[in-house]
Amino acid sequence: MATEYITSKNMVNLIYETMRAMNKSAAHHGMRVSYIMAKLLSKRNQNEKYEIADFMILAMLHDIGAFKTDDVRKQLTYEAKKTLPHSVYGYLFLKYLSPFGEPSKMILYHHMDYTTTKDLDYRYRFELEVLKIAEIMDIWYKAFGDEFDYSMIDKYSGTKFDPKAVELLKKTVAEDDFFERIKDGTFKEEFDEYIEYVLLSDLEKEKYLKMLMYFTGLKNENMVAETIATISMCREMGRKLSLNEHDRNEVYYAAILHDIGMLAIPDELVNAPRRLDEEEKNLIKTHVEIMEKMLEGKISENIIKVAAAHHERFDGSGYPKALKASAMSNKEAILQLAEYVVNSLEEKPYRRAYTKQEVIDNLNNGIISGQYEAIVTDTLLKNFDDIIEHAQDKADVALVTYQKLLRNYKQVYSSLA
Ligand SMILES: [Fe+2]
Ligand SMILES: [Fe+2]
Ligand SMILES: [Fe+2]
Repeated sequence: MATEYITSKNMVNLIYETMRAMNKSAAHHGMRVSYIMAKLLSKRNQNEKYEIADFMILAMLHDIGAFKTDDVRKQLTYEAKKTLPHSVYGYLFLKYLSPFGEPSKMILYHHMDYTTTKDLDYRYRFELEVLKIAEIMDIWYKAFGDEFDYSMIDKYSGTKFDPKAVELLKKTVAEDDFFERIKDGTFKEEFDEYIEYVLLSDLEKEKYLKMLMYFTGLKNENMVAETIATISMCREMGRKLSLNEHDRNEVYYAAILHDIGMLAIPDELVNAPRRLDEEEKNLIKTHVEIMEKMLEGKISENIIKVAAAHHERFDGSGYPKALKASAMSNKEAILQLAEYVVNSLEEKPYRRAYTKQEVIDNLNNGIISGQYEAIVTDTLLKNFDDIIEHAQDKADVALVTYQKLLRNYKQVYSSLA
């Protein structure tokens, strides 16, 4: 990446914002666990600050698997009995679809007793023990309210929790009772200070942005396949149109992020096996403005502009702003066309898939009516088969990854259940 599209710190903010769009209390829980973990690791003084910041991102995401395997709210109560499904799925999700690598495994073990975890041959075993404590502190804190007393953990030292990690907790709180700041909400300032040290490479940023796109697969895996096909089409069109690298990258990131606003739309609507009524359709349409708000101030404005125009049309017939041709460029046109074509070729619960010829006819009509930008559409039509085939291949790879993930899920689950 020649230019910086997003800073490391804003990347973390965007991850948090995206979690919040999915479920507020899950995001808050993740943030507090992340903060407690940072307090403890800082006290231990054996990690660099940027490493602690990396663990904080992982801690924010520790319950991500619950979006796939559980009703998320249930997961957050102390009484949640079945902790294995979200632990296994969360681990595999991060292993396959995030930049974490080895530390992902911490998520697999985050509800296991010390009697089980103490003999693990695992590089991040102690950080895992710290994560377990951070997590239980927040759950107890929520469950017991004013009755909360962190020293309740003594009872479980050596059984559920690592005595060394318990000692670390006590030492940390004795010196600085940070639970007070969790209570009054001021911990967020300190959270931000820790996050200042996050240091992501361009490749990590790209992978994190893709991870946010993969969040949509927690609701519906076809959404990911469609987005990946859309990204591929955008790249091919950008190349065929000889856009410069900077513009191509902007379209690329816009394509990755364009539908993450769907994360805030209730699952019942996203996955409704029927035609939606007007009110429901309007609710779905809000995904564009939701995405804009999520990205605002965090990522380059040009990317937001392209992403936010993916349902606009050049004749002003699109939404949400009914923009006209003069307000848009080739970049917007590319994403609009890619989105339209991928969607049309896909079968929906309320209609069959359009045939290739129907899509081509619609595109030609769109040029005449002014709905689609003429030069970009023409370029697409001239290379239609190539571009579509390539996009289909990419989408297939994504679906194969999900099959692999599922097989792996079954293996890991049955080996631990
Ligand atoms: Fe949790
Ligand atoms: Fe959990
Ligand atoms: Fe959309």
